[in-house]
Amino acid sequence: MLKTQVGIIGAGPSGLILARMLAQQGIESVILESQSRAHCEQRARAGVLEHDAANLLDEIGVGERMRREGLVHRGIFLRFDGCDHRIDMAELTGGRTITVYGQHEVIKDLIAAAIADGQALHFDVADVSLNDIDSDAPTIQYRHEGELRVLQCDVIAGCDGFHGVCRPSIPDGAIRSFARSYPFAWLGILSASAPASAELVYARHERGFALQSMRSPEVTRLYIQVPPDDTIDHWSDDQIWSELNTRLAVDGDWSLNRGPIVQRGITPMRSFVADPMQFGRLFLVGDAAHIVPPTGAKGMNLAIADVRVLAAALGAFYTKGDMRPLDTYSATCLRRVWNVQRFSAWMTQLLHRIGDDPFAARVQRAELEYVTSSRAAATALAENYVGLPFGALA
Ligand code: FAD
Ligand code: DHB
Repeated sequence: MLKTQVGIIGAGPSGLILARMLAQQGIESVILESQSRAHCEQRARAGVLEHDAANLLDEIGVGERMRREGLVHRGIFLRFDGCDHRIDMAELTGGRTITVYGQHEVIKDLIAAAIADGQALHFDVADVSLNDIDSDAPTIQYRHEGELRVLQCDVIAGCDGFHGVCRPSIPDGAIRSFARSYPFAWLGILSASAPASAELVYARHERGFALQSMRSPEVTRLYIQVPPDDTIDHWSDDQIWSELNTRLAVDGDWSLNRGPIVQRGITPMRSFVADPMQFGRLFLVGDAAHIVPPTGAKGMNLAIADVRVLAAALGAFYTKGDMRPLDTYSATCLRRVWNVQRFSAWMTQLLHRIGDDPFAARVQRAELEYVTSSRAAATALAENYVGLPFGALA
């Protein structure tokens, strides 16, 4: 039987950042990840770090490459009816910004730092299962390098994403789930071409939503709203570019820079919250506990906010024997989670084509006009987009 203080399942942003924040307080952990290191380092996902999330990566000593290669943005564009409307986030929020830096780059930096520091981190583990999670000595059983192993822990951190094993290990009835699915998905591509706009463009078009983001001055990230059951083989390169050009069209001299599509995929959209985010000695973190639609660029940021709360609570538990911050972990996190659910659902309904109701379409246009003409409304968007300060809502 192997032993550790905190058993962490999953080496996404949640698991890797948690292990690092624990190590910095002298708390030992073991990370178990079902995928290979290469898979984790290549998975294309989120791209936007909130102001405080970027600062946290600095504080834990993994921000150096992000500060060098990441792109700091002070504003975004909302595009509708062929016109651009800039939301000057920095000006509206007292200088707060976002940093565009791919999630897989964050993961590469975290894995490199973990390995350099001797963090126990096992990739390619299989058959992970949890036992005795309502006792003081929960265990994780798993298979690694052909051997069946059992890891006994004080606490288990379920950082294994939406489809992981941790949440389903909680007995029926012990947590309540809140869910909403959307009648659309996002088709996303990475194009080896320069972004045509240096800032993100969120476009509302009658054919549906489109987004131009970027990963670097040479790589553009683009998304379009597609039907929920669509598959990527239905789309030729020409069809993808044609749809992007139509939906992102704007008056004046602007066009996308077409390049080779180096990655493509379709992501479903859903909202989900597990309440509470804890059962016994198992704490759910990040996507294991909640999912937001990607329109507000919040998934990874919300995961980081959870980790910050759990790392501090475990610090209080180990250094002072104080259980209270662990007991209130879920309630503390859920305040931020529900605000981010609210914001992400609002951004989604603001920008997507939802059904054929002409009344709803007019209300949507009125909302876009209000957000882009009222300083109060624009400030509400800006302060949520750059992220409410850590500590404000958790
Ligand atoms: P994850 O990153 O999902 O990490 C969980 C880890 O656990 C994974 O490495 C997984 O392999 C591992 N794991 C799973 N099951 C097991 C098991 N049984 N045993 C051991 N390990 C296990 N957010 C945005 O803001 N913008 C986006 O554009 C965006 N795009 C996304 C696209 C996709 C396809 C997905 C799935 C998510 C996207 N997100 C996006 C959300 C964002 O990436 C997540 O919110 C973020 O990754 C959450 O981090 P996490 O560490 O909690 O979970
Ligand atoms: C990106 C993803 C998002 O969901 C978003 O709202 C903005 C940018 C991106 O991948 O760059």
